[in-house]
Amino acid sequence: MSKINILSPDIISKIAAGEVIERPASVIKELLENSIDAKSSYIELILEDAGKTLIHIKDNGTGIDHDDLQTIFNRHATSKIKNIDDLYAIMSLGFRGEALYSIGAVADVIMQSKTEDEKTGWEIHIRGCERVGLKPCSFNKRGTEIKVRELFFNTPARKKFLKSNSAEINHILNLVTPYTMLHKNIRFSLSHQNKTLIDLAETDSLVSRISQVLNLEEQNLIYGEQKLNQDVTLEMVLGDINITRTRRDLQYVFINGRPVENKNISYHINNVYRLIMPQGAYPFFAVFIHMPPEDIDANVHPTKREVKIKNENFLCALLRQAVEQCLMKSSGTKQISSPFSIPNTQSDKSSRSAYTGSSFEADAPHDMLREPGQAYNEPVFHQEYTVPSSQDLAQEQSEFFGTFSTSRNSLSDKLTNAKLIGVFQNKYILLEADTELLVIDQHAAAERITFEQIITQMQKHTLEVQHLLTPYILNLTIPEFLLWEEIKDKLGESGFETTPLGNDAIGLHTHPALIKNPEQALRQILSAGSSDACDFDTIARRACRGSVMAGDKMSEPEIKALHLRLLNCLDPFTCPHGRPTIIEISESFLAKQFLR
Ligand SMILES: Nc1ncnc2c1ncn2[C@@H]1O[C@H](COP(=O)(O)OP(=O)(O)OP(=O)(O)O)[C@@H](O)[C@H]1O
Ligand SMILES: [Mg+2]
Repeated sequence: MSKINILSPDIISKIAAGEVIERPASVIKELLENSIDAKSSYIELILEDAGKTLIHIKDNGTGIDHDDLQTIFNRHATSKIKNIDDLYAIMSLGFRGEALYSIGAVADVIMQSKTEDEKTGWEIHIRGCERVGLKPCSFNKRGTEIKVRELFFNTPARKKFLKSNSAEINHILNLVTPYTMLHKNIRFSLSHQNKTLIDLAETDSLVSRISQVLNLEEQNLIYGEQKLNQDVTLEMVLGDINITRTRRDLQYVFINGRPVENKNISYHINNVYRLIMPQGAYPFFAVFIHMPPEDIDANVHPTKREVKIKNENFLCALLRQAVEQCLMKSSGTKQISSPFSIPNTQSDKSSRSAYTGSSFEADAPHDMLREPGQAYNEPVFHQEYTVPSSQDLAQEQSEFFGTFSTSRNSLSDKLTNAKLIGVFQNKYILLEADTELLVIDQHAAAERITFEQIITQMQKHTLEVQHLLTPYILNLTIPEFLLWEEIKDKLGESGFETTPLGNDAIGLHTHPALIKNPEQALRQILSAGSSDACDFDTIARRACRGSVMAGDKMSEPEIKALHLRLLNCLDPFTCPHGRPTIIEISESFLAKQFLR
C-alpha cells in the first residue's frame, strides 16, 4: 500500500509560513522591508506584548491599489521581479512574494492602503489564509497601514515556543536597528506598551544616525569611504579604541542595502582590530558594501540573512586593507574616563554633570559624593591582591567552605605540593610537581577565585562593596537599558548600585570590591539580552570576567597567593565559564617530544 500522502493546502501553507515567520521579529522584518521597498520616508511601529498581541505598522510609501490588494496575500505575488533574469539583479529587499502570504497564514491581518491616484483607500482583512473582507475605508493619505493580531493563533506549537516579552522585544530591537542604520533618510519610530523606544528624525549624516540609535559618542566614530575596485564601493563607520564590547554585538555588515551575516567578512575586520584592541574586547563597526547585484545571491536562505558573494576572499582582502587604512589614519587616543583620575575641584563635578546632560548628583545618595579632602575611591573593606599569609588563607578557607573535603584527586595533591618555577608571557604560571609541569592560566584562575568569593559573600550576606565617589557613566543601547530596568534591583543586591541618567544611560555607584573592572563587568551582565538568564549565579559569573587579565604582570607574592587561593576553591580546575584553569604536562610527554 502506498505510504505517500499529498499534503492539504492548509498544511502546505503552514509549513511555508513556518520557514519565513518564526516569531514577532520575523513579521516586523517583512513588514519593515515592504515599507522600505515602497520608498517610505516615515515608518512607525506600534507593538503590544512584544508583538504577540499586536504589530501595527504605518508608512507613507507608494501604497497599494484596489486590484493589487486583492492578490498580494496570494503565494508568489510580487511586484518586485518578473522573470528569472531579475532574480539575479535584485535591488529590492523583497522579491519572493512570500511574506504577506506567510503572515496571513498564521495571524489575523488587516491592511489599509491608498495610492496617490486613488480617491479612497481600501481595506482587506485576512485571517489564517481566509479572506474575511475587502471594503473601501476612510484612509485619506498615501501609504499603507497594517495591523497583525493573534500571531500563531492557528499554530499553537509555534506560539508555545515564543519567549518572554523582554526576550522577544530584544529580538525586535536587534532586528530593527540595522535598518535604521541603512536608511538615515527615513524617520523611524517604535513604541511598545505605549512607551517610545525608538524615535529617530531623518538625517543626512550616517555617523549621527548611528550615534543616536546605538547611543555611541560621535567623537568615537570614524567615517570612511573607498572605492575597493571598479565595481565595489565601501562606506564604513568604525568605532575607535574607546568603544569596546565584551561580545561582537555591535558589528554590522550590509551588502547592497541588506543587513547580512558573513563570518568571513566579520573575521577579517575583527582581525584588523586586534592590532589596537585589548584581548577579549570587541569593536563596533558598520560596513556598507555596494557591489553589482549579479555578484551576490541573496536567495540561499528563507530569511535572506545569508548571501553568497562572488570572489568572497578577494573582497575580504580589499575590505581588510580599507578598514586598516581608515583606522590607522584616524583612530583616536584612548580616553581615560575612569574614576581613578582624581577630579579635585568643585568645578569638576559640575562639568561632569554638564557632560552627561543629567543631574545625577542630585539623585545620588549623599554618601556617594566626594567630600573635599576625602581620599578618593578608597575601598570600603578590602583591596584585591593584598597578599594573605597561609594562616589567613586557612582561616578564609574554613570560613568560606567549612571543612574541606579530604578526598582530593591527584591533580589537587600535585597542585598543593607544586613549586613555583616561573611565569610565561605574564599569562601562565609554571609550577613543578614531581614529574609534572603544571601550567596555570592566571586569568582563568583569577576568575574562578573571584567567582567563588563573590558567591560565598552573597550567600552569607557579607558582600564587600566599593563605593565610587564619582559614578561611572555607562551609555547603553536600547536593549541594554531595557534589561537594566528589569534587573536593576537584582544588580543592587549583587553589589552594583545603579541609577538612571535619562533614558539611555546609567550611573554606577558601587560594585563588588573583588571586581577589578566594574564597567566591563556591568557591560558583560547587560549584554545578556534577556532577564531570563540573569540569576545571581549568572551575574556573578559574568561579573568576574573583570578579574586579573592575561598579560597583567603579577609579583611573586601575588602569584603565590593566587596559587593558594586557587587551592582553596571548591572547583579549582575550571574557570566559571568552563575553560580549564590548569593543565599538566608530564615529563614523559616532554621526553617523547624530544625523541628520548
Ligand atoms: N507597505 C507596502 N507598501 C506598498 N506595497 C506593498 C507594501 N507591502 C507589500 N506591498 C506589495 O505587496 C507585494 C507582496 O509583498 P510581500 O512582502 O508578500 O512580497 P515581496 O516583498 O514582493 O517579496 P518577499 O516575500 O521576498 O518579501 C509586494 O511585492 C508589494 O508590491
Ligand atoms: Mg516583502
